[in-house]
Amino acid sequence: MINHVAKITESISWIGVNDRQKHRFENLWPLDRGMAYNSYVIIDEKIAVLDTVERCFLEDYLEKLNEVLAGRPVDYLVINHMEPDHTGILREMTERYPDMQLVGNKKTFQFMDNFYCVNSNRLEVKEGDELDLGSRKLTFSMMPMVHWPEVMVTYDQKEQVLFSADAFGSFGALDGGLFDSDFDIPREFESEMRRYYSNIVGKYGAQVQRALKKLSALEIQTICPLHGPVWRSQIPYLLDLYDRWSRLEGEPGVVIVYGSMYGHTAKMAERIARGLRENGVAEVKLFDASKTHLSYMLQEIWKYDGLIIGSCAYNNAVFPPVADLLSKLEHWGVKNRIVGAFGNYTWSGGGLKGILATFEKLKLDPVGPNVEAQSCMHIEEEVLIDELAVNMAKAILEKVN
Ligand code: FEO
Repeated sequence: MINHVAKITESISWIGVNDRQKHRFENLWPLDRGMAYNSYVIIDEKIAVLDTVERCFLEDYLEKLNEVLAGRPVDYLVINHMEPDHTGILREMTERYPDMQLVGNKKTFQFMDNFYCVNSNRLEVKEGDELDLGSRKLTFSMMPMVHWPEVMVTYDQKEQVLFSADAFGSFGALDGGLFDSDFDIPREFESEMRRYYSNIVGKYGAQVQRALKKLSALEIQTICPLHGPVWRSQIPYLLDLYDRWSRLEGEPGVVIVYGSMYGHTAKMAERIARGLRENGVAEVKLFDASKTHLSYMLQEIWKYDGLIIGSCAYNNAVFPPVADLLSKLEHWGVKNRIVGAFGNYTWSGGGLKGILATFEKLKLDPVGPNVEAQSCMHIEEEVLIDELAVNMAKAILEKVN
């Protein structure tokens, strides 16, 4: 008989669900490979459920929960994160288990009261508080802004399990697996993990660094995030990825993003890409901002050291899809990138100027030259474009050596 409830330890079970229906997470980020919403149950003298799942999975969720409970009631529902992908079943839980206590911090309950009208017993916790389940104690630690201000993590001292909320999560459904050892993580999950990190948590690198420092004091055997695989055999690899991503430490390579209406800017981008490869850059990713969703461009920008952005002028400004990216980079506070810029115009500029303005706000100094062509590239711009590629390649290779 196949078990659809997975045991993490004898007393801790996964009762999450895989979502292959939704097109976009937060109605924004594409979910081509779906999404897992993880929820966990600890069976002890008292029973604690840690977070729930998206509302549309109510039936599936309750079926799993009932199987684990085997007729016992839930004593505590710990809300590590109030975002609705983890609190969709909250109301039903409070109705089914009227004696259950909701466990959260002050902000959790503020948010909860604004999202849901739930009459419930509440246990408000703060940093370092403990909850005794019988043979084990749970400890709570606040992790604000990873990803919302109320986020906290829960640590099971007995089995050294960390319930890490959104931290260490990933896009992508679990396809019948659960643990990191069930997957070839670098091939099957790393890019979706980085896309999740850069899209969802990327703005909060400083807070992630603080969280990593806090967690370094704990002995951790298992990390149970709210999305993606459960980690137990590759925890050092996972922590290293988060450390590098939160510091925006890149790998050798260059991302080129361009916006082009009539093909001239695209041609400039192609020439830069060729120039980079000819000058020793092995990893070059080229994106047309009109075609590729921002989500995937951010993922690659988080990966590589180099970033070159090009835009045609559009009503004296940056071409809108490139402007979207620039706004996101500003909002996310992207740093530690070697940058370059180019543009194109027919009667007045605006594309290049807008890109340079963003770089200035981010305190990123372009390698230069900043190239702007009037419609098609002429010999003067071809020379400058080649120079830009050479300068970028040199800067990337110097960083490695
Ligand atoms: Fe998985 Fe921030 O919600």
